This record gives sequence, structure tokens and C-alpha cells, in this order.
Amino acid sequence: MATPRASGVDQYEMPVEAGDFRADLTEGLGADPKTIPFKYLFDRRGSELFDLQAQQPENYIGESENEIYSYFGPDIAKSLGPGVLVIEPGSGSCLKVGSLLDVLEKPAGYVALDVSKEFMIRSVEILAERYPSLPLVCIAADYFHLEPLPGPVAALGEKRLVFFPGSTIGRYDRGVAVELLRSFRELAGEGGKIMIGADLRKSPEIARDAHHDKAQVADRLHLNLLQRANRETGADFSLLKFRYDAAYNDDENRAETYIVSMASQKVTVGERTFAIANGERIRTSVAYQYTAEQFQEMAEDAGCRPVGLWLDSRQYFSVHLLEVL
Ligand SMILES: C[S@@+](CC[C@H](N)C(=O)[O-])C[C@H]1O[C@@H](n2cnc3c(N)ncnc32)[C@H](O)[C@@H]1O
Repeated sequence: MATPRASGVDQYEMPVEAGDFRADLTEGLGADPKTIPFKYLFDRRGSELFDLQAQQPENYIGESENEIYSYFGPDIAKSLGPGVLVIEPGSGSCLKVGSLLDVLEKPAGYVALDVSKEFMIRSVEILAERYPSLPLVCIAADYFHLEPLPGPVAALGEKRLVFFPGSTIGRYDRGVAVELLRSFRELAGEGGKIMIGADLRKSPEIARDAHHDKAQVADRLHLNLLQRANRETGADFSLLKFRYDAAYNDDENRAETYIVSMASQKVTVGERTFAIANGERIRTSVAYQYTAEQFQEMAEDAGCRPVGLWLDSRQYFSVHLLEVL
């Protein structure tokens, strides 16, 4: 359903709810090991902190990925051709899409899609100042529950590119990642393409430090998650009794982030009370690393054909172009 124009940016909400935090938190704290789904990191404050964390010197992802878009931009634009409608699920601050919009020949428009609604709208409004004549749309939605795009958005262009940078795909176990790629394939439609960032295998220390910056922005991001849980679900996390940590899991080839309990304690969410041991970890996200070949295999399992691959000069990060089969 469309809502009135804010400032040159059309806004839509998908009919699907972005999620029930209380139900997901209760399920996650009852699981073994305990988890909180990644998407709840992103309320407005969380989105701002995530963005700031992405700019910390230890976090190589933005730098490596931006190097790829600026160095290979013309080559990427040639592979995509003219008149592309760019759709970015999990658009966040929309900082990377500018490099793409700058090199694409006559893009048909840009569609941002995110659970963090206010932050998305503000980010697209900033983008609108840079691209005043480009059709820009925001859709508040969970990318795991993508309905067909609202009619007026679909009408913007038939030649679609689903853009999923930042190695967000690495936040999900392989089976879920394949499902997500399949739903992006549906979204791109026949003749459409998917351009996706994927973190490459590298030294475990470098991979772990990207999530554990010295300025402790990642720590603040995770304490914000507990504050959000207290505010939105009625949970009673005591912020002083938890700390943040990150580690590299060699067996799974992934970095992992945690909230660690600093006491033996109980946390209540609604009717349920959870015992949490001293030192027990609540996992908040994973960040898988793939070789380029492993990622291409996964894309093929999702019914996509790899047609382009670009790496940064340090070979820390990869950007893949996939064709929908
Ligand atoms: C890792 S950030 C990436 C931001 C941006 N695309 C980039 O590469 O810089 C992930 C983004 O996905 C959004 N997000 C996380 N889970 C989501 C979901 N299930 N549906 C829609 N958006 C989601 C978050 O709000 C956040 O903006």
C-alpha cells in the first residue's frame, strides 16, 4: 500500500510483518546454543551504529568492496547494459549503490528494501539529493518474505538487478542462503541478474577483528540490541551484566558475534524466564567466508549462472554477477 510522498521518494510497506521480536527472542533464548536473530540489531540506532562500525579501520569490507566498484565500475556497467532497475534488499545506508548508479547507463530507478524503516527512508532521501531525476522507492519489508513488488514499482522497469552487497549473504547458513538466493532469483525475474558481495577466505584474525573494533562500536551495537529488547519486548536484560565478543570458528569458516553473560543470572521475557550461566554466550550473528568457487557453487544450487567475478587488490572480498536461469 502506498503512503503519501515524503520528499520525492515513494514509500511502500509490504503486507508481511517485519517479524515478532518477542516471539523470536523467546525462541532464541530457549535454544541451545542461545541466539538472537541478526535482523533485530537494526532499529534506527542500531543501523547508525552498524554503519559507524563498518567505517572502523579493522572492518575491511567497505573499503575492499568500494575498491571493486570504483576500479571495475565501467566493466560492471558494460556487463549490465542500459535501463536497469536496481533493487537492493537490506539497503541500509545505501552508500554502495551510488558507485553503481554513477556508472550505469540510464538506470530505470532504484528500489531500497529494508526492515529498518526510518533509517532506510532517511538514507534514500539523502540519495534523492544526489540523483534528483532518478525514480527512487523505499519498501519496508523482510527480504525473507518478498511478495511480488507493488504494481507501480514493478512498472518502473522490467530489466532488474537485485543488488545485495556487503556480504550480508554470509550472515546465513548455507541452506538459508540458497533459499534467499532463490527468492532473489524470483525478484529479478526472467532475464534479470543478481549482483552480490561475498567475503573471501582469509586469516582468521583479520576476519575476527573486522567484528571487534578497538573503538568498541560493535560493543555499543550489541548493548543497543539488549536495550531494544527491553524496550520492545518487555525483557529485563541488565546491561551491566553482559559484554560483547567475537570469535572465528575454523570448522565452519565463519566469524561469530556474541553477547556474553558476566554472571549466573535470569532474564525474563513476558511469561518466560531463562537461566543464563556465567560466561554463556548468546550468538547474534555469523559471517561466513567463501572461496570464489564455493560461492559460485552455492549460486548454481540456487538456479543462477555465475557470469561475472571481481576481486579487490588484497583479495579480501568478491563481487559476483549471477544470471537468473
Ligand atoms: C549488513 S547490512 C548491509 C547494508 C548495505 N547493503 C551495505 O552493504 O552496506 C544489512 C542490512 O540488511 C537489513 N536487514 C537485515 N535483515 C533483514 C531482513 N530480514 N529483511 C530486510 N532487511 C534486513 C538491515 O537493516 C541492514 O540495513
